[in-house]
Amino acid sequence: MLKSFLEGLDGLTLECNARRGQACSLKDLEALRVDLLGRKGKLAAAMGALAKMGPEDKPAAGKKANEVKAALTAMLEARQADLENAAAGDSLGGFDPSLPGRRPAVGSLHPITLAMQEICEVLTGLGFEVVSGPEVENDWHNFEALNMPPDHPARDMQDTLYISDRVLLRTHTSPLQVRTMLSRKPPVAVIAPGKVYRRDSDLTHTPMFHQIEGLLVDKHVSMGDLRGTLTAFVRQLFGEKTDVRFRPSFFPFTEPSAEVDISCCMCGGAGHISGEPCRVCKRTGWVEILGCGMVDPNVYRAVGYDPESVTGFAFGLGVERVAMLKYGIGDLRMLFENDVRFLEQFS
Ligand code: DAH
Repeated sequence: MLKSFLEGLDGLTLECNARRGQACSLKDLEALRVDLLGRKGKLAAAMGALAKMGPEDKPAAGKKANEVKAALTAMLEARQADLENAAAGDSLGGFDPSLPGRRPAVGSLHPITLAMQEICEVLTGLGFEVVSGPEVENDWHNFEALNMPPDHPARDMQDTLYISDRVLLRTHTSPLQVRTMLSRKPPVAVIAPGKVYRRDSDLTHTPMFHQIEGLLVDKHVSMGDLRGTLTAFVRQLFGEKTDVRFRPSFFPFTEPSAEVDISCCMCGGAGHISGEPCRVCKRTGWVEILGCGMVDPNVYRAVGYDPESVTGFAFGLGVERVAMLKYGIGDLRMLFENDVRFLEQFS
């Protein structure tokens, strides 16, 4: 009789331990307490047997009963504390102040911005000052003052987006040459980074892109100064080993004019990479990066400078081109699609 009494109490302890975990609210837990420890509960029922025991068994049975009661009470109290803590957590909106913080995702600069900053850094290091001007321009600043009168065939070089008859989106940053000379006396040494627009859209052209214009005007500026300045610039930007070549070209606002090629930074000027033709320079070993020349006297006349007493040079550089070469980007569209997987590589 004593043995089965003691076994029954052990069973009650096991039952309590198993069932308290299933009690998910204080109400569940109170029901469990009543079922086990209440006046008509399972422990009370077991105690009924105690009264009928002989005197030799009573002390051991009574001791065990008290131990079990204490154990059940402690188990239920522990569960109650857990439930109360969880409820306190809920009142903080599920916020657990003890968890470590989450690092916010930080963006990165766009490769065009990076290239623009690098170019401007090199050129300001050479003594140029940064200026800016409007993207909505008039015909005179964008064309006429740059030696392109209304019927000049050179206007066909650029497909213009017009806002009205004489107002347009600037097709290049060259109007900043005009604006700078109109507002300052020589000597001037400025660069003008910014957006430009053309009616043009295909694999290698976007209707908006970025240029950086340069202008230096002083007494006795020569083509040698142009060569030296641009060679130093290109080598700082692309590395000291970069080869530079000046190819004769034509622009209405410079005379003489040239285009500048650099040795291809993909294939190192070889034209091929491990036997395969280089796609960036199309096997030539050279890539064009800018146009330049000596400022045409007609431009000086348009802005009120005396072409007899000053000379100078100008250059215009495509920023997308530089970004693609510097960062090894094979497709122009990557720069405009804003695919986060692409952009993240520049952080
Ligand atoms: N404005 C020219 C273009 O968009 C680029 C250019 C060429 C700018 C020669 C210059 C220059 O200042 O001297 O194609």
